[in-house]
Amino acid sequence: MTINNNNVCFDQDLIARYGGRGPRYTSYPTALQFDEWFTAADYERVVRSSNQSGRPLSIYVHIPFCRSLCYYCACNKIITRNAERVRNYLVNLEREIDLQSILFDDSRRVEQLHFGGGTPTYLNRKQMWALIADIRQAFSFDESDDREFSIEVDPRAVERNTIALLADLGFNRLSLGLQDFDSQVQKAVNRVQSVEQVCKLVAEARENNFKSVSFDLIYGLPHQTVQSFDRTLDLVLAIRPERLAIYNYAHLPAV
Ligand SMILES: C[S@@+](CC[C@H](N)C(=O)[O-])C[C@H]1O[C@@H](n2cnc3c(N)ncnc32)[C@H](O)[C@@H]1O
Ligand code: SF4
Repeated sequence: MTINNNNVCFDQDLIARYGGRGPRYTSYPTALQFDEWFTAADYERVVRSSNQSGRPLSIYVHIPFCRSLCYYCACNKIITRNAERVRNYLVNLEREIDLQSILFDDSRRVEQLHFGGGTPTYLNRKQMWALIADIRQAFSFDESDDREFSIEVDPRAVERNTIALLADLGFNRLSLGLQDFDSQVQKAVNRVQSVEQVCKLVAEARENNFKSVSFDLIYGLPHQTVQSFDRTLDLVLAIRPERLAIYNYAHLPAV
């Protein structure tokens, strides 16, 4: 154990075990594994042979659109207010769902579904219903309580009844992007959202029987100090989310 000037304890064994390089974000295959030599035919062969296992499926759907830019953001996103662009994307997404569904055996049930972004709730109610209906028609959904259907929600991009809508669509896990509650940090990264906004969403999620609420936080943002992040953590713990994803800030201005 090492103690630095801020009285923070660093566990050397823990750092040695987890201190190596790894992908910043949880996707499968991870970005580091993408390779131009792995062709569409290879993909099809692997998927078809996986059907022999009969294992359940996990589907990730990416909605890249956002209304404004958070300055730290390294996600795959498109800042736009152009509705035509969104409609075109959804047409192509529908084609992709059909192309993928042909490869997988109908007997394989979708136990996990994740909508990420960008901002999935950028889509309006009608677009959301249509997209879920497409996926449900193309694949066999696990409709039981064991399913894990999650969605990333930007607390600034919700309307009245958004959470109830998500519950009606079948989502039962919520992932909220918080990053930091400190107002100076929030202004510096162009992502201003209040504790009250977040508490209201969490209360609505619980009223609508969401099984899990997860918060995204980032450390390493401008103006953050150990003390200011401690205050954010105290506020977070008081809300008692089921999960936390705490990212270290990756400075990727070119993304
Ligand atoms: C793919 S983003 C989408 C989340 C959603 N759009 C939102 O803002 O609420 C998922 C999470 O990645 C994290 N993230 C984004 N850019 C990052 C960066 N440069 N370094 C570390 N984490 C980052 C943030 O915590 C963010 O909530
Ligand atoms: S953090 Fe989320 S809302 Fe902000 S720009 Fe990135 S994807 Fe969009």
